[in-house]
Amino acid sequence: MSTTVLILAAGQGKRMRSSLPKVLHPLAGRPLLGHVLAAAAALKPREIRVVHGHGGAQVREAFPDPAIHWVHQAEQRGTGHAVRLALKGVPADDVVLVLYGDVPLVTPATLRRLRAKARGGRLALLTAEFADPAGYGRIIRSGGNRGGVVAIVEEKDAAPEQRAIREINTGLMACPAGVLARLVRRLRADNAQQEYYLTDVVGLAVKEGLGVAAVAAATLDEVMGINDKAQLAAAGRVLRRRSADALLAAGVTLVDPERIDVHGRLRCGRDVTIHPDVFFEGEVSLGDGVVVGPFSHVSNSRIAAGSVIHSHSVVEGANVGPGCEIGPYARLRPETELVGEARIGNFVEVKKSSIGRRSKVNHLSYIGDASVGGHVNVGAGTITCNYDGVSKHRTRIGDHAFIGSGVELVAPVEVGAAATIGAGSTISKDAPAGELTVARSKQVTISGWKRPARARK
Ligand code: UD1
Ligand code: CA
Repeated sequence: MSTTVLILAAGQGKRMRSSLPKVLHPLAGRPLLGHVLAAAAALKPREIRVVHGHGGAQVREAFPDPAIHWVHQAEQRGTGHAVRLALKGVPADDVVLVLYGDVPLVTPATLRRLRAKARGGRLALLTAEFADPAGYGRIIRSGGNRGGVVAIVEEKDAAPEQRAIREINTGLMACPAGVLARLVRRLRADNAQQEYYLTDVVGLAVKEGLGVAAVAAATLDEVMGINDKAQLAAAGRVLRRRSADALLAAGVTLVDPERIDVHGRLRCGRDVTIHPDVFFEGEVSLGDGVVVGPFSHVSNSRIAAGSVIHSHSVVEGANVGPGCEIGPYARLRPETELVGEARIGNFVEVKKSSIGRRSKVNHLSYIGDASVGGHVNVGAGTITCNYDGVSKHRTRIGDHAFIGSGVELVAPVEVGAAATIGAGSTISKDAPAGELTVARSKQVTISGWKRPARARK
């Protein structure tokens, strides 16, 4: 039996008080809808249909995946109306799984359990027990709430004794498409919000004598709905916790598991240590024994075994070989490659450059568009002048070169192997291998020179 997933994402999300459509708000670096799409894709459905409306093209453009089938709901007339539109053309014997764009933490395992309950023509609901059920639809059961599910009542329509019920509707459900299509056609908008509530299909199903199964969510976290910024922040905490737990389980030392943020995928070798307030983004891999110091930001980079990133460093799109030391306060920009055992010190920026084995750039330098050999020493305050206002030019520095402090290397320029450049030089022509090159004006002393004196009044 094939599965069709419907994701409802047409609402504006008024309670977010934002001009961004709700489902585009980022959670751990990915829009809410992106989380739901990932969970849906894990079930390998025949088709994923997303109902969008508010924010129209903006929502569609954020997900250019051609496999998504978009259904436009011009007017948001309720979740039942959205499902009715989205079901058009879905084969009657498909199992339909209804997900909400603002319920982003649901796991594929829970969705599989829910789907399994819909086999045999039943309607299956995902429910949860909340200590504070405010804002959610309540599950009404027969026999003084101990029997089967008979209806869902939205909070706005609930009587006081119904509001006291703590079993809630997560909004997620599964049902054979033909059954669901027949039920949503019978919905009426005679309620507090004058909307077609999807939740009313439960009462209709019970009247038809169809089975309604309630499946309890595995954790409360995974069914939290995001309606405002406080709930968005709470969901962010849940995801931080999930990724910290996974890292701890894999043997990573987190000095403070509450203070690490992973937006993307972080892979770690053995005996990795991560200090507090480190932010990882995109695809990052840390080799065995890597240490990342506090307040660092590492994105889309590979850090090989034994390298240390000291505090307050920013490493973006870099390939760091084994045994390197970076920072504190260093910045590695995209296309930086450190071959190995290199040292990039404080207030050094490196961009689109390779730095050979055992080379050092220890203080206050800018190295851009350069190829630096091995065993090179770059003195404090050295700058590659790579940009002439129109084009970028390369600097080449051979193995064992020694660049004195405060040198400007005006690219394109080459410093030969084992060359020495005198401190304070502005090098605009190639410097030959093995020789000392100095390019600075001669020092003069004017003896007997007097400072200007202030005129006395
Ligand atoms: C809904 C449920 C409620 C449940 C809660 C769980 C209904 C009537 N109520 O309430 O029982 O406890 O979710 O989080 O279903 N949407 C559309 N088109 C519409 C209306 C909504 O696509 O016309 C989308 C929204 O973008 C959102 C989802 O459906 O992603 C839920 O809508 P929302 O208005 O947030 O419903 P809740 O009041 O949270
Ligand atoms: Ca909601």
